[in-house]
Amino acid sequence: MNLTTKRPAEYLIANIKREELVPGKIFELFNKGAIAVVLKEDDRVPTLWKDLMGSENGGGPPDSGETLPWQGNLMDIAKNYHSRGGPGDDIGDVIFLIKDRLAYIARKFDVFKENGSKMLATDPGSFVNGDQPFSVPEDIRSTLWDVGEEVFKSALPAETELFPYAMSVERLKYSDTPADFDKLVQLINNSSDRWAQFGRKIDHNIIQAAGPFKYRFIKSLYALLCEIPGAKAVFPKLNHIFQANNVMTAIDDNANMIGRPHTDGRLITCLSSVRNSIKTEIFNGEKWLDLPLTGDSLAIFPGRGLGKYSISPTWHRILHLKKVDTEPGQSKSNVSCIFGIRSISRIKS
Ligand SMILES: [Fe+2]
Repeated sequence: MNLTTKRPAEYLIANIKREELVPGKIFELFNKGAIAVVLKEDDRVPTLWKDLMGSENGGGPPDSGETLPWQGNLMDIAKNYHSRGGPGDDIGDVIFLIKDRLAYIARKFDVFKENGSKMLATDPGSFVNGDQPFSVPEDIRSTLWDVGEEVFKSALPAETELFPYAMSVERLKYSDTPADFDKLVQLINNSSDRWAQFGRKIDHNIIQAAGPFKYRFIKSLYALLCEIPGAKAVFPKLNHIFQANNVMTAIDDNANMIGRPHTDGRLITCLSSVRNSIKTEIFNGEKWLDLPLTGDSLAIFPGRGLGKYSISPTWHRILHLKKVDTEPGQSKSNVSCIFGIRSISRIKS
């Protein structure tokens, strides 16, 4: 695992304003050691949030009149689902509810310029939305593109010629509590038969494998042992000790980790979010830090695609908090909006 090196605290999470979003600026901050840059006081960001997510809390219908999958019904979700080969690549409306691996309901679409045209296209081109199909309005596409282009230019060395790229927009809803999530997982699991359910347990054990158990072949053996009476009482406990003794997987008792610590394959990840039971942490090579997220700011961090400019990708992980102290009326909707910038060759395949 190629971890980022230890960096001075003042550079770890840098804040910039719209007027500082100029070519090469974010690149310079990443180069100086920032593992995330937060764009604040750019009025396009809260406008996009309202257009794409709804109210400030992200809990209402978007201003555009679109119905998001967690506000709609399962039949429309299925109509809006476009398989591209599995989690991460699928597009449209998706439901990923795999215990400790993926835990959200989402709507995903790409925005791009088709074959040199100046027109902004989306994929999928439209969504089933009750009686009326819904297409992302042109003014929203164009604001998305403007923000994305400025971020992209800023994250590359100044004077770099942009290559064809696309913006992937992902709107995600997480469960408000782990108990709600467990019910959803149970619902999905129980919709399959016994062997499929057993396979899911094996997958779950493989994802959890830590320490010496995480190596190829051994993790499959470990996963099976976890389901055998007798061994079942020993191996998960042993694995938990390995997890707790590794800084990448150690978490406090009040949280479950969703998936594994990872870096993103895309060029750049931009994230706005309103949440109180979900936490995103970024790694500075020594310890995990909270990524500050709101609906009116954009947290920007590098993916593996920026490696050719000698920028290291930022390791991050997502935690689901078991207990949240929320004042009455202060609950949040636990939704995120991700703008990912990726090479155009990675879409429309
Ligand atoms: Fe990620």
